[in-house]
Amino acid sequence: GGNAMWGGRFSASPSALMEAINVSIGFDKRLAGEDIAGSLAHSDMLAATGIITEADRDAIHLGLEAVRGEIAEGRFTFSTALEDIHMNVEARLREIAGPAAGRLHTARSRNDQVATDIRLFVRDAHDRAEAGFTALMRALLTQAERHVATVMPGFTHLQSAQPVTFGHHLMAYVEMIGRDRSRMRDSRKRLNECPLGAAALAGTSFPIDRHMTAKALGFDGPTRNSLDSVSDRDSLLEYMTVASIAAVHLSRLAEELVVWMTPQFAFVRLSDRWTTGSSIMPQKKNPDAAELVRAKTGRIFGALMGLLTVMKGLPLAYSKDMQEDKERLFDAVDTLELSLAAMAGMIEDLSVNERRMAAAAGAGFATATDLADWLVRTLDMPFRDAHHVTGRLVAEAERQGVDLEDLPLNAFKAVEPRITEAVYDVLGVDNSVKSRTSFGGTAPACVAEQIAWWKSKL
Ligand code: ARG
Repeated sequence: GGNAMWGGRFSASPSALMEAINVSIGFDKRLAGEDIAGSLAHSDMLAATGIITEADRDAIHLGLEAVRGEIAEGRFTFSTALEDIHMNVEARLREIAGPAAGRLHTARSRNDQVATDIRLFVRDAHDRAEAGFTALMRALLTQAERHVATVMPGFTHLQSAQPVTFGHHLMAYVEMIGRDRSRMRDSRKRLNECPLGAAALAGTSFPIDRHMTAKALGFDGPTRNSLDSVSDRDSLLEYMTVASIAAVHLSRLAEELVVWMTPQFAFVRLSDRWTTGSSIMPQKKNPDAAELVRAKTGRIFGALMGLLTVMKGLPLAYSKDMQEDKERLFDAVDTLELSLAAMAGMIEDLSVNERRMAAAAGAGFATATDLADWLVRTLDMPFRDAHHVTGRLVAEAERQGVDLEDLPLNAFKAVEPRITEAVYDVLGVDNSVKSRTSFGGTAPACVAEQIAWWKSKL
């Protein structure tokens, strides 16, 4: 039973299956940097409080830097017998630094150690996500500026509803991604407390200085309750929740790209850099990246549901169940970052078929509401009556097989004699969008205001 960490109590080695189910080094080696940072701060504090000597601290520091170098250069041998990253680093430290290494784990447990490592990891992930959100917002803003006045159909039920501008449509996503970024900033504030020093669960009798380690690791302060510190994973759950909501937004935009790219819509094009061909159908240009962004939402939701399920019903304090947090977290982080970057790349790459969009914007009697509004304004008709009159005019246009703007004036007059030539002004899509000047509306002037507001927030 030669376990270096707990060999005193044990006389036999674990069964191969025990090792197989217990091992985490295959994935938690990704926390090596965080683990070493935590150990550097901890040993500094142990020396400052007189718990270990300065000489031991120095030996530990030198050793940890050597381990960091070996890992960075790919010279480190990760051992599955040593279970996890914490014991792998410490075992190698012992080989390099000798007996001083044995003092590093004073007043510490792997429970507060791992809690600290993942908080450092998820904090960096928050910062990268924020940068990813900002980059996507910038790409959307650039396209929106180009297309403040580009008219397209606005949809409800995926049926032509009222004309909008493409810039307005893109700015809707800037709002969503802006809220995702703000949620990410919020949860970062909550997570920035340091669990280190909670030890196994109850704190420690050594005179440690948790404020010192918290400060050294860039936290606002130490966590207040040692039991909570080693039991809680909600900072990870919160990241995944925010990531899931963001993934919903990304998937909706991805879906719209897929639809807009179809030859039937042909609203937008992606260049060869962002499409793939077919091995059999020579005409194809497929939006695979958009489809994958749409699909990867499932990974992020899955990670969240997976960890929620792991945490549900766990008694305080630490249980090994919590080791299952990492693969979920890493997958959510990697997936969100890749999806954000791919989406920003596609939005930058996008070219718009303005002619197709404008033609589609006018189809499907999309200015019927403008007509009804005109009847209210010009003839002082109650809106309900105007709706009815417009409905009859749409039916008549449909019967004649023409758009509203091509319906002859006598056909208008047959339904409502007071209608004049002036009605044609509101039936064109450009006038329609220009007229929608209510705050937040689709008029180019309003969209320009939205763009200016967000530019000042980037
Ligand atoms: N590998 C473990 C994890 O990821 C580290 C903590 C182990 N603690 C323990 N008491 N066995 O959760």
